Amino acid sequence: MRMLTSLARAAELIRSGGLVAFPTETVYGLGANALDAAAVAKIFALKGRPSTSPLIVHVASIDMARRYVTEWRREAGELARRYWPGPLTLVLPKSSKIPDIVTAGLPTVGIRVPAHPIALQLIEQSGVPIAAPSANRFTHLSPTTAGHVREEFGDAVEILDGGPTQVGIESTVVSLVGGKLTLLRPGMISLGEIEKATSPEGPHPAPGMHERHYSPRTRLLLVDGPKQLPDRNGAYVWCNEAGLSSRSIRMPSDPTGYAARLYSVLRQLDDEHWPWIAVESPPDKPEWVAILDRLRRARS
Ligand code: TXA
Ligand code: MG
Repeated sequence: MRMLTSLARAAELIRSGGLVAFPTETVYGLGANALDAAAVAKIFALKGRPSTSPLIVHVASIDMARRYVTEWRREAGELARRYWPGPLTLVLPKSSKIPDIVTAGLPTVGIRVPAHPIALQLIEQSGVPIAAPSANRFTHLSPTTAGHVREEFGDAVEILDGGPTQVGIESTVVSLVGGKLTLLRPGMISLGEIEKATSPEGPHPAPGMHERHYSPRTRLLLVDGPKQLPDRNGAYVWCNEAGLSSRSIRMPSDPTGYAARLYSVLRQLDDEHWPWIAVESPPDKPEWVAILDRLRRARS
């Protein structure tokens, strides 16, 4: 049974304290009313997510974002005007309207306006901000199609189907607390672009993050080229140089195309049960930083 749902029903579910999986431009989210602590608790329970991991709050506009933060400096305005709607999450001091469970007890909240018409309509029709992590079980790969969400949760959640997501990997997360810019998670909007859009400030070290995250079940290796494949029995994912192995997948050679395909390819290979998946390391260039980050986390 496919539990695909309509916008009107999804908005009603959100308003009444339920969960809905919905598309954004990055990956599918598992959403609940961000103002309802009991609804948000259902997200942690379904994902098996530790309560120490804060959720991103999705809003439909800059005005709506400002209602849920207590600090909005020039840098926030510049980044929001430039990148929203889009794959950028801003971490700012939170308003007391946001329950502590959403932010894992932190005094800050991650907030963004997603660039997807279905996500925006869902927020508008629900009339509330929507707290949503990626719609996968804890440590699994983020879903980029409604089918992936179904693989994760079966019929336990209703899904708004918006087709495959465009960006393919999760949003860039930056903290702006106290006017200081800190990259917390790289994404397809690079730190360089963000620094250019705000006042020039040097990069700061990112705080500790879950090391192994976004992982397939199959052993995943990052290799420099086909010579490093362990044997011929696994699956090789490459964009520069083909290698001899049972299964070979050629990826787009541009980072945008590559990111959009990555999680689908890893899920597909996972389902095929190879003894290993080897991914050729992408170029060591700034445009590839977010992809390299996700591959390193997926590595066994
Ligand atoms: O693209 C995305 O960001 C997707 C879509 C659904 O919006 N969401 C997503 O959520 O990837 P999730 O929960 O899988 O990852 C949220 C990230 C985590 O690394 C979390 O630690 C960070 O955002 N985060 C959220 N709130 C934060 C806060 N107050 N302080 C620091 N980091 C925060
Ligand atoms: Mg996630």
